[in-house]
Amino acid sequence: MTNPSQAATGGANPSAGVIDTSVPSIARVYDYLLGGKHYYDVDRVASEAMIDAVPETTLLAAANRNFIRRAVRFLVGESGIDQILDIGSGLPTAGNVHEIAQEINPNTRVLYVDKDPIVLANGRALLSANENTVVITADLRDPEAIFENPETQRLLDLSRPLAVILGGILMHIEDEENPHGIVAMIRDRLPSGSFLVHSGCADPGEPRARELNQIFYDYNMGSRCFRPTAEQADFLKGLELVEPGLVPCSEWRPSFDFPDPDNPAHQMVIGGIGRKP
Ligand SMILES: C[S@@+](CC[C@H](N)C(=O)[O-])C[C@H]1O[C@@H](n2cnc3c(N)ncnc32)[C@H](O)[C@@H]1O
Repeated sequence: MTNPSQAATGGANPSAGVIDTSVPSIARVYDYLLGGKHYYDVDRVASEAMIDAVPETTLLAAANRNFIRRAVRFLVGESGIDQILDIGSGLPTAGNVHEIAQEINPNTRVLYVDKDPIVLANGRALLSANENTVVITADLRDPEAIFENPETQRLLDLSRPLAVILGGILMHIEDEENPHGIVAMIRDRLPSGSFLVHSGCADPGEPRARELNQIFYDYNMGSRCFRPTAEQADFLKGLELVEPGLVPCSEWRPSFDFPDPDNPAHQMVIGGIGRKP
């Protein structure tokens, strides 16, 4: 069966990198879970395995994404941030970070970074007419290279406050890849008054979190996707937590992402924002 997205994604600019359709891609699986069109059969199979195990999986993805959208409204609309570094930005979807930010302040500069070449391939077309928004391919595991990238240096003024968004990405960094060290390095680079946004899956002590974690692992998308909730507070260490802190995404300036707020599955995706003093 042909996936209707294949012509669009498979025809990517070769200079954007090789798009491997033999293994699931985190960006494409997330797109599938959000109801997008940029996926291949291999991504659909991985996503359906998760949904079969835990039907709330699509709600978790939506809750994460909606938290990011509310976070951007807070950053640009309430905190006066006008430059955003979105690392692990994912595929373009409805209500992109730059769209929300630039609707509030059209001069907001947004740099999208993702290691998956499909993000650049799709972002280029979307952003060709937008001089305040750029997408690059780079890897969070080398944060220095992101800050030193010529596009970063050109678009962002790193001596002024900015927001770094790490939405649903630290969950894909293995312990031996030193996620806490990576985040510490980013916090160190940020000038005072900057913000760091963290979100992603979490294990609040739920057997279903461990079940989903195993599926992520089986499909080669990481072994620590559902880190215990308590372990994740350190990602915002040394920062002033914006109210209500690091909480289930659906409780951060509450939303209606989970129709039944008593469903304990809503605790399996958390988000929070810290401000550098
Ligand atoms: C679950 S999606 C989250 C997308 C978006 N940030 C959000 O929260 O809605 C995670 C994204 O992180 C990207 N990613 C995973 N590991 C990465 C790494 N080491 N460096 C850069 N991007 C990475 C994936 O390709 C994917 O697009």
